[in-house]
Amino acid sequence: PETITVAELANRMAARQGDVIKKLMTLGVMATGPQSIDADTAELVVQEFGHRIKRVSESDVELGIEGVEDRPEDLTVRAPVVTVMGHVDHGKTSLLDALRAADVAGGEAGGITQHIGAYQITAPSGKKITFIDTPGHEAFTSMRARGASVTDVVVLVVAADDGVMPQTIEAIKHAKAADAPIIVAINKMDKPGANPDRVRQELLSHEIVVEAMGGDTQDVEVSAQKRTGLDKLEEAILLQAEILDLKANPNRVAEGSVIESRLDRGRGPVASVLVQKGTLRRGDIVVAGAEWGRVRAVLDDRGRQLKEAGPSVPVEVLGITGVPAAGEPFVVVETDTRAREISEFRQRKIKEKQAALQVAARGTLDQMLA
Ligand code: GTP
Ligand code: MG
Repeated sequence: PETITVAELANRMAARQGDVIKKLMTLGVMATGPQSIDADTAELVVQEFGHRIKRVSESDVELGIEGVEDRPEDLTVRAPVVTVMGHVDHGKTSLLDALRAADVAGGEAGGITQHIGAYQITAPSGKKITFIDTPGHEAFTSMRARGASVTDVVVLVVAADDGVMPQTIEAIKHAKAADAPIIVAINKMDKPGANPDRVRQELLSHEIVVEAMGGDTQDVEVSAQKRTGLDKLEEAILLQAEILDLKANPNRVAEGSVIESRLDRGRGPVASVLVQKGTLRRGDIVVAGAEWGRVRAVLDDRGRQLKEAGPSVPVEVLGITGVPAAGEPFVVVETDTRAREISEFRQRKIKEKQAALQVAARGTLDQMLA
């Protein structure tokens, strides 16, 4: 956890060291000038001195709960998390639907399939793949803008009868900026005008060199409509995952990202989250963005209650008291008190940011009127 010396704290508040030490004593903390106190205690002292809290190096709060690095020996293989991107109408949604329908575990499981922003399938080989099913780079970039990096692999859908188009190029840029390897799905192969070689050729000018042309980007010909090539695509994703050596520690408190969330009439706030580390369980206390709550239920994309969800598993979580934004981090904490503290800290930061934006907006207006 972050710490600060008593002397430095006094210095930053322009207060006398002796006064800070006395204040600490009233809080039950014995410390001298060169000694360090933790960020929480420091925050209390700052408040006691009537200062506004400016512990804004976000890490002050974050580090205490999220900064624990896993030891290599505690890591185990996790499923890849895939985002599908591509030009409008090239078949992103159709492909996601087809992959989900082809899930070998889905058939016998039954249950009503619902949209929770992501789903996990089991490939014929028995290995699992997680798909974020809010496709398009908007979701991708808004998540990234919030600092969430959830995608391991980007599947770039290019219609074989249309070729590389402006949003294809956009998607390539986003994937590269995120350092996510691309797998090209050449879709609509069933169409009479399908010309996959033209697609491969066009990709060259955007520095995507597929394997057939001597590069290292995998490409797979598919038809989302006829459901062909889907297992090949899954194998390509799993091969890429192996190369990436994706691992996480399931034996720790859960951390992850909010994929989307909404207010459900009957159930209250419902958050779709992707667990990225650790294991999430019913009864856990979670902080998601500036919201928090005790997990009342963990559900999969078929509405089934789960006891727990490990790394790369997308779930719906009930029990959070608000609606956190997509891309916000979530983390399990020890106590209600801690959860409330972090949530309040973040709420305050949001308010500060809004106030600053208002001031900036007013400034611009003043300039415009001057
Ligand atoms: P946006 O979300 O609007 O960007 O489109 P999208 O990329 O999700 O494409 P979508 O899956 O909605 O498909 C667009 C159209 O292409 C629909 O009419 C699909 O039926 C059709 N389509 C998708 N995949 C295939 C395919 O493999 N073959 C054929 N023939 N048509 C397809
Ligand atoms: Mg779509």
